[in-house]
Amino acid sequence: MKRIGILTSGGDCGGLNAAVRSIFYRAKDKYNLDVYGILEGTVGLMERPPSYMKLDYNTFSGQLIRQGGTFLGTTNKGNPFKYPMGDGTFKDRTVEIIGGYHELGLDGLIVIGGDGSMKILKDIADKGNLNIVAIPKTIDNDVGATENSIGFHTAVDVATNALDNLQFTAASHNRTMILEVMGRDAGHIALNAGIAGGADIILIPEIKYSIDGIIKKLNKLNSYGIKHSLMVVAEAVKKEDGEHSLITFADGEQRLGGIGSYVSEQIMKKTDIECRVTTLGHVQRGAPPTTSDRILASAFGVYAVDLLAKKKFDRMVAWKDRKVVDFPIEMGIKTYRQVEKEDSLLKTARALGIYIGDL
Ligand code: F6P
Repeated sequence: MKRIGILTSGGDCGGLNAAVRSIFYRAKDKYNLDVYGILEGTVGLMERPPSYMKLDYNTFSGQLIRQGGTFLGTTNKGNPFKYPMGDGTFKDRTVEIIGGYHELGLDGLIVIGGDGSMKILKDIADKGNLNIVAIPKTIDNDVGATENSIGFHTAVDVATNALDNLQFTAASHNRTMILEVMGRDAGHIALNAGIAGGADIILIPEIKYSIDGIIKKLNKLNSYGIKHSLMVVAEAVKKEDGEHSLITFADGEQRLGGIGSYVSEQIMKKTDIECRVTTLGHVQRGAPPTTSDRILASAFGVYAVDLLAKKKFDRMVAWKDRKVVDFPIEMGIKTYRQVEKEDSLLKTARALGIYIGDL
């Protein structure tokens, strides 16, 4: 093995640069490998010539370990098996990706991505016989095979800090401050940040809530003389009619968003409680990585390179029982995990008097 590539795929998050750094150091110092950073995920391998940068010690001499996002760039649009060509047609571009891998003379590729990216890259690797190893990253923390994915802790930290700030203004104005957080179909960010940030109400997609249930909780606080409160709402929580709240962008892309405003409107229609909504958005992804994410990313990076060096391909690294382990990539794809009914944090939240839905 002489040369390996790294690509980041899917939505960015805190800790990706720390992972790339760790991969580089291990690959260079231990195995004397050339390390190519592929630019913009699979797109870099589609381009001709392939788009990449050769990593060296200078790349990492500065601030990268503490920087959010991914300096390599990424993409979360367009499945390469059915790639939108921009003129309404679709093309299978996986052969180009496989060609790009060979054109760069790669002996292995480390893919840092979530379940969607892992599936795409595994299918491409199977088709082209490429040597890949995957590192799980996602602020949503929904890759079930690992206890933690890179980026999750940073997103929770950002949301917790937001609650810390909202607390003061909520109390100053006797308001209910609603914080809408990301997480796609999983409520992990909302649940964790809600507990850490002292929320009174946490709504997650996995548990049914009612506006009346929320109001009951707010009235209870009021009966104690507490006239302000904090609520965290995960973006995939549905409206009472069972529909998601969605935002459609000018380019036609749709994303989850707006449920915080919906909940606020419903409360204000039925009571004289004053609500305000903060939608945290991508600040959860671009924030500087927390200590935990830097450590997790560093541990994953080293282990991933060792897997490649041992020719243990088609594996993903994972965090389990306080150490790094590895599983078949398939596990990363098939073990999608939302907040489970028996999640001990649900018990914690309820024990703290947090309204988390009607059970
Ligand atoms: O999967 C990561 C994530 O940040 C989700 O939490 C969120 O729903 C989505 O990506 C946002 O995607 P985009 O960056 O395309 O707006």
